Amino acid sequence: MSNKRLIWLFIIAVIIGGTAAGIYISDTSASSTGSNAMDGMNMEDTSTPNEHMNHQAANSSNLESDTMSEEIPKPSPSPEADSTTSQEANSSSNHTLNVPNQTTERLQVQPKSGQPVKGFNLTAMESNLEIANGVTLPVWTYNGTVPGQEIRVTQGDFVQVTLKNELKVPVTIHWHGYPVSSETDGVPGVSQDAVGPGETFTYSFSADVAGTYWYHSHQESSEQVDKGLYGALIVEAKDAAKPDKDYTLVLDEWINPEDGLNAQGTSMEGMPGMAGMTNMSDEEMMSTLYNIYTVNGKSGALIKSLEAKVGDTVRLRLINAGYRSHAIHIPGEFKVVSTDGQDINEPAVLQNQLVTVAPGERYDIEFIVRSPEDFTIEAHDDNKYNGQLVIPVKVEGSNGKEMPVQHTNLTSFDLFTYGKPAAETATAAAEKYALEYTAVLNSKMSGDQQVYTINDRVFSELPTLQVKTGDNVKITFVNDGEVDHPMHVHGHFFRVLEKNGEKVNSAILKDTVLVKPGEKIVVSFTADNPGNWMIHCHELHHASAGMAQQLVYSDFVSSYTPGTSTADNKPE
Ligand code: C2O
Ligand code: CU
Repeated sequence: MSNKRLIWLFIIAVIIGGTAAGIYISDTSASSTGSNAMDGMNMEDTSTPNEHMNHQAANSSNLESDTMSEEIPKPSPSPEADSTTSQEANSSSNHTLNVPNQTTERLQVQPKSGQPVKGFNLTAMESNLEIANGVTLPVWTYNGTVPGQEIRVTQGDFVQVTLKNELKVPVTIHWHGYPVSSETDGVPGVSQDAVGPGETFTYSFSADVAGTYWYHSHQESSEQVDKGLYGALIVEAKDAAKPDKDYTLVLDEWINPEDGLNAQGTSMEGMPGMAGMTNMSDEEMMSTLYNIYTVNGKSGALIKSLEAKVGDTVRLRLINAGYRSHAIHIPGEFKVVSTDGQDINEPAVLQNQLVTVAPGERYDIEFIVRSPEDFTIEAHDDNKYNGQLVIPVKVEGSNGKEMPVQHTNLTSFDLFTYGKPAAETATAAAEKYALEYTAVLNSKMSGDQQVYTINDRVFSELPTLQVKTGDNVKITFVNDGEVDHPMHVHGHFFRVLEKNGEKVNSAILKDTVLVKPGEKIVVSFTADNPGNWMIHCHELHHASAGMAQQLVYSDFVSSYTPGTSTADNKPE
């Protein structure tokens, strides 16, 4: 993003904050947000329903379930819920039934006979989020919370999610990393029209692949994801042992415009050293502007503790919904059991290593609690506001005793040398590729705008990449620029073949790979999911400023014709 655009973003954030009668409402009523992601709560538990936390959602959720033929179980309260607050999420149906929803306007795929169907409602709506002590931001949410309601199902379920849009702008839902069919991919103008204000849209897919995924809007996504339109999608493996504790940890960064204003004194004219800012590099500007770091929508002292007891196997599902990488320090011994939803083959035990989670990526960590001592999970890297990213882990019976932890001499976890390579990896090198494509990533000025480019061109100038079903595809990402580019491929898992000219000796599959300045990363995949797909940087400002390209199957006929709705489609 150009300096000018960033300054605009900054100014707009300030204006919005001002007109919303103060971003820093001392809000006490909306603080029940974001809890279901933390505790892995089973929404099928029955207990008392709560009132809606937000009047805007008062009649939004139950109605959408009328098409379901079974009674909706009573929702369970959030652990934080009290008599005046609750999670909108709770009123969504999350239940099993065995008949397909027949009245959905545009049902993309159907459940197999006898397949359990899990129905969810996600309402895109405004809310206020108390993000840090004394800081409440106006946010856009799915079901009133940031992250939005966690969609947690079991492998083999058929998932139907009805999106209702109560915002004033069009939105969609993209299922990041999940191999859904093209019609369910949620990219406006590519797989569907954006869902306009007041409209609904049902996404359907068979949850055949287990793992940690996430969902987010793909309409003007750099802005909409930034404002909170995202949530976790967890597909529990059908035949695997469940961990004793299972925590979803969604990382993000936010802009606290008052910070700058306060620091510099006051009004628009006196904007925080604007002159200084224009001389900053993009990286400096991004690292300065995004000054609140959150886990599940909460920063600093508001971050909820994780709880465990000695002997517990704890699984942490780290998801980066933000635009900066975060290097996470897990004290003690741990394993990285999965990345981007895909299990790692025979993961070794690690210690004193930082796991860097790039934008869009996921890492699942497992550890066993060995002693009755509390500890904290922290971020250790160059980011300015790491002090806000501290996740307490409270171990039963610790009586406040802290685990001795080494915070220095930590090395970086290397995914590409981790785990035992599967036998099939050996054959990967012998594959013939129907498409071999090199994407050189960079940025340049176009007029007074900084654009982010693939092979010197922006999205609208780039040709679509053409494949047909069954083709092997090889893509080489080369970062010739000065900032990180976490590159994401929709609809497919890819294998990383090479990094900086060296063969990667692992069987790891990913959907998002971080390409740092100067790096060259070669990936391959088989075109096994016919459709129209996107490949783009998940620093979503970069995608919206050009760093995106389409991958199209020549043998795929889409049932979608763009432009039949009035909503403006803005795919990035
Ligand atoms: Cu998570 Cu195209 O995005
Ligand atoms: Cu990028």
